[in-house]
Amino acid sequence: MGHRVLIAAELQRLLEADQLAGLDVTWLPADQPTPSGDYVAIVPLLSRWVGGTELKRLPKLKIVANCAVGHDNVDVVAAEIRGVKVTNTPDVLTDATADLAWALILACARQVVAGCELVKSGTWTGWDPELLLGIELRGRTLGLFGAGRIGQAVGRRAVPFGMRILYTARNPRPEFERATGAVRAELSRLLRESDVLSLHVPSVPETKGIINADTLRQMKPSAILINTARGDLVREEALAQALEQGRLGGAGLDVYTDEPTVHPRLRAAPRTVLLPHIGSATAEARRQMAAIAVANVQAVLRGDPPLTAVFG
Ligand code: GLV
Repeated sequence: MGHRVLIAAELQRLLEADQLAGLDVTWLPADQPTPSGDYVAIVPLLSRWVGGTELKRLPKLKIVANCAVGHDNVDVVAAEIRGVKVTNTPDVLTDATADLAWALILACARQVVAGCELVKSGTWTGWDPELLLGIELRGRTLGLFGAGRIGQAVGRRAVPFGMRILYTARNPRPEFERATGAVRAELSRLLRESDVLSLHVPSVPETKGIINADTLRQMKPSAILINTARGDLVREEALAQALEQGRLGGAGLDVYTDEPTVHPRLRAAPRTVLLPHIGSATAEARRQMAAIAVANVQAVLRGDPPLTAVFG
């Protein structure tokens, strides 16, 4: 008998048999609650909350191997108290997510979705010198709120577009600064000076709701807000209101506070590009995310340190 493990059923087709060697897998569909039992590992999707109650139901658990780089769906403190390791899937999704942030930046700057909808609707009346005018990125300021792996990857992509880069980070990033000319600054400066403000911080108590009525008021009325990080960094009602009132140039969002529900006012707001949380959705990234999550399980069950520990 192998080690009893719970793995999100949605990952089954991304995994090869040899990656699952020695595991007695129960495939857990996203719409089913976390069961109780003598499972030693769980590999959840980011949509599954793993908190104190779930951990109590799994007394033999050694590891929560989250299949995501974010881990705000796991009560890390409760896990630590119970001696359960928590891992995530960094690096393999950095390029995919940075590419998607840029897809949103370009889509917002050049009204790509509005243009597509116009053509598809059959109501386009022909070339017009003032049709769907956007902004040029050259010489504009990109603000990166957070400059970890993904934030830096978004920043590096800004260099050939000729953008000036400001970033926030707890510690300076000299190599990133050398490669991109980026300048470290406080959030207040990013709010004031950014033409594009892109969010790249985790959802933690200090960052939840950081984009709110007050911070939105400090942004340029032409600025574009990009969020490929976590939905609850943004107060959605305040964002919708800023867009409705013409106090913000646009918003490109891939994440929402209460997924898959999207605030109705945000869905109706003008100048938005709204995607269904597909930042890491490339075949390569998703296969590697599943592989790393299971490799973390295998390492811990062998008694080795996990490959990509959040802690433990
Ligand atoms: C996706 O949102 C992730 O955290 O991997």
